[in-house]
Amino acid sequence: MINEAPLDPSLLPPGLRHFDAAGVAAEFGTPTFVYDEDELRRRCREYAVGFGPDAVAYAAKAFLCTAMAQLVVNEGLHLDCATGGELHVALGAGVPGARIVLHGNNKSEAELTAALDAGVGRIVVDSFDELDRLEDLARTHAVQPTVLVRVTPGVEAHTHEYIETGTEASKFGFTLTNGVAFAAIRRVAGSDVLRLAGLHCHIGSQISRLDAFGRAVERLAALAAELDRDRDSDSDSGVGIDELNLGGGLGARYLADDRELDITGFASYLRMTVEKAWRAEELDELPRVMVEPGRSIVAPCAITLYRVGTVKVIPGIGTYVAVDGGMSDNPRPVLYGAGYEAYLPERLDEARPLRCAVVGKHCEQGDVLVADACLPAGVSVGDLLATPTTGAYGYSMASNYNKVTRPAVVFIRNGAPRLVVRRETNDDLTRLDVA
Ligand SMILES: Cc1ncc(COP(=O)(O)O)c(C=O)c1O
Repeated sequence: MINEAPLDPSLLPPGLRHFDAAGVAAEFGTPTFVYDEDELRRRCREYAVGFGPDAVAYAAKAFLCTAMAQLVVNEGLHLDCATGGELHVALGAGVPGARIVLHGNNKSEAELTAALDAGVGRIVVDSFDELDRLEDLARTHAVQPTVLVRVTPGVEAHTHEYIETGTEASKFGFTLTNGVAFAAIRRVAGSDVLRLAGLHCHIGSQISRLDAFGRAVERLAALAAELDRDRDSDSDSGVGIDELNLGGGLGARYLADDRELDITGFASYLRMTVEKAWRAEELDELPRVMVEPGRSIVAPCAITLYRVGTVKVIPGIGTYVAVDGGMSDNPRPVLYGAGYEAYLPERLDEARPLRCAVVGKHCEQGDVLVADACLPAGVSVGDLLATPTTGAYGYSMASNYNKVTRPAVVFIRNGAPRLVVRRETNDDLTRLDVA
């Protein structure tokens, strides 16, 4: 993990390898999330080519703002929303309802109503309570929503337990065991107000071993075969599965030693695995393979640009380099022990012999951004410092802890920066107060 060599430039998107960091900091301040917009678009397109038209929904939870929602749709993808709030932002950005997939293990009546009113393309049902609620609402609204049934296939994804969602113990979806998923699908297929499109499954995030997806696909194929054989007295055809949405999960490269996981290879692997599993179950009709990537689109496209405020050397112990952000703009190190690299953008090509911890400005000893950082010698107050691969689950998990204002977000396209989310001000901190 410790790497004293200059930062491996391949950890940065092409547009951020030699950009004017000082100019961006001067114009927009720090901390700022800086995205390479060309690379965002290129990764969306790689997904669209790999899986085909209308088969990819970008997972908004990884990073969402109006500009991002518009970019995604502009590049031909759909948008996956996990809450009414994400749905609101997406619709406000002009995303057509038909291009939205709505998720959630506890969707409220208000969220489902908003989804029906917007005519969202797919609702991913997650529980029997939700099925009751959705059927009632669909009747009242006289609509027939298209539904995917979320299945927990009972596989481990070899990732952090907090982001592993495909095991039997997950709070999401219907389990394969005891026929729970089978019963849910049967119920949707027999509903007079819901239209069954197929199955959904999301086994976790930051997955680096593709075989976990393969095992999930085999179990879903077995379920599809069981449904296909399920004939009732009135019909001689079983329940057909037209769509197979395999969720998100492809990992990103955070450290120089991490493996690069390529999108095109992922697409070929999933399509081939589905074909093999469906053939093995002697199912004639192949489902349309769909995915919902978040992290693998946005994570590698951004850095967070900070300014160093203090450098504290504790003799015999170590060095703390403190920056003007911290766990409020990147909680992943605290939540999951996630590792990052650090570098000085204005000294990108220099070796990094100084072992130190890059910490934030919050009142928590655990407020660490990079525990085992390497930086160029002589790092000092006022220097710009950046962490690569912060495009996913950074801004979207940001908080106002300690009443620290949320950073700005800047997109750079063809070398030109534009502000897409303004920095919060101190006045924003009391915006909601009514006393
Ligand atoms: C249902 C669902 N789909 C897609 C995703 C996106 O996953 P990732 O960002 O790992 O691609 C998530 C993330 O947790 C999810 O819960």
